[in-house]
Amino acid sequence: MKILVVGSGGREHALCQAIRRSPLCSLLLAAPGNAGIAQLAELVPIPAEDVEALTAYAVAHGVELVVIGPEVPLVLGLADRLAAAGIKAFGPSAEAARLEGSKGFMKDALARFGVPTAAYGRFTEAEAAKAFIRAQGAPIVVKTDGLAAGKGVVVATSVDEALAAVDAMMGERIFGAAGEELVVEEFLAGEEASFFALVDGETALPLTAVQDHKRVGDGDTGPNTGGMGAYSPAPVVTPEIEAKIMERCILPTVRGMAAEGRPYRGVLFAGLMIDKGEPRLLEYNVRFGDPECQVLMARLTSDIVELMLAAANGTLAGRTVAWRSEPALVVVMAAKGYPGDYRKGTAIGGLAAAGAVEGVTVLHAGTKAGEAGKILANGGRVLGVTAIGATLAEARTRAYRAVDRVDWDDGFCRRDIGWRAL
Ligand code: AMP
Ligand code: GLY
Repeated sequence: MKILVVGSGGREHALCQAIRRSPLCSLLLAAPGNAGIAQLAELVPIPAEDVEALTAYAVAHGVELVVIGPEVPLVLGLADRLAAAGIKAFGPSAEAARLEGSKGFMKDALARFGVPTAAYGRFTEAEAAKAFIRAQGAPIVVKTDGLAAGKGVVVATSVDEALAAVDAMMGERIFGAAGEELVVEEFLAGEEASFFALVDGETALPLTAVQDHKRVGDGDTGPNTGGMGAYSPAPVVTPEIEAKIMERCILPTVRGMAAEGRPYRGVLFAGLMIDKGEPRLLEYNVRFGDPECQVLMARLTSDIVELMLAAANGTLAGRTVAWRSEPALVVVMAAKGYPGDYRKGTAIGGLAAAGAVEGVTVLHAGTKAGEAGKILANGGRVLGVTAIGATLAEARTRAYRAVDRVDWDDGFCRRDIGWRAL
């Protein structure tokens, strides 16, 4: 099959590696890809958000399966456009992608489907949101309804902080149209974990759990990021908790979406808060996580293309997924300054030496090829140093051994990835 992967992050590099392992893949294309992906796939210079150009390219080049990595093209309807052109896609329709594209839609859907989640209100007027915040008190959580690249959430520890968030999101519109509507919700305590399932419209096949590190600094301090590292399995998600997540969250959502005429297909990424053994759903994402995908693909031994096709074709029922028993861990290397301002174009060396450490794969998250074979930084999160080991401790030792071989003065990473589990 001719397969096109859409996106340019570490997630897409990990997906490309897994797809290349499948005997079903005859040609791999990536749009727009990065310098690491270029070693596995032919790069197509079309941005991930350009739904029209991607569809036209897929039609013109006889692409048979499009794997859509990020949320934006899904919310913009890339899967629908491809379906109309007779091309299979891995990823949900725009209607189903509203589970991520609109937090208000998602919360109302959870309420209809009976999924345990934080109590909430939806607001289109700042004054009404503020009155709700004053009535509820702090801590309280303020979220933009629309996509804000993972930044549209303020966990406020005081009423004043929550009121200021309403002003920034609705008044100053710091996230643009995403903040025209807000969700204000109850603060949930507990330990966070992510759970992934493949869905074909009717059947949900559990994948596994991952924990990530969202804060930029060691000890989970500093501003939120897209994720500075992750590991799988997540010890907090015991088999009993996994069963609760499937029964109480994933399956009611899949059934409800189908019953309402917007069947969900693709991977469903549940962000959960687990407190005293009880999971509650914080949010859904309609795609793999980045960097969560890197550790999932490091552990997956099943043929990813077969699974993606089964999700697209509605034939997941009766399938199983096989994993390596060894844990995997990824350390993200980011450009200094991230998640604030950072430089692009700095040179990165030592990648071959890093990749030579046993059990290690260096995935590119934000790179581009420079002159004379140089690899240049081209984003905030730049590398995902991923390792597998007999134990999580061994995976971590290997990942940091590889990190220390990377020669990049402008980069940094957290030194404590995996601390909760270790
Ligand atoms: P979200 O984008 O909804 O996952 O939110 C980003 C982060 O904010 C989550 O990973 C949590 O750490 C935190 N968060 C979101 N909602 C809540 C909540 N209701 N209670 C506590 N923390 C939350
Ligand atoms: N790492 C979190 C995300 O991909 O949304």
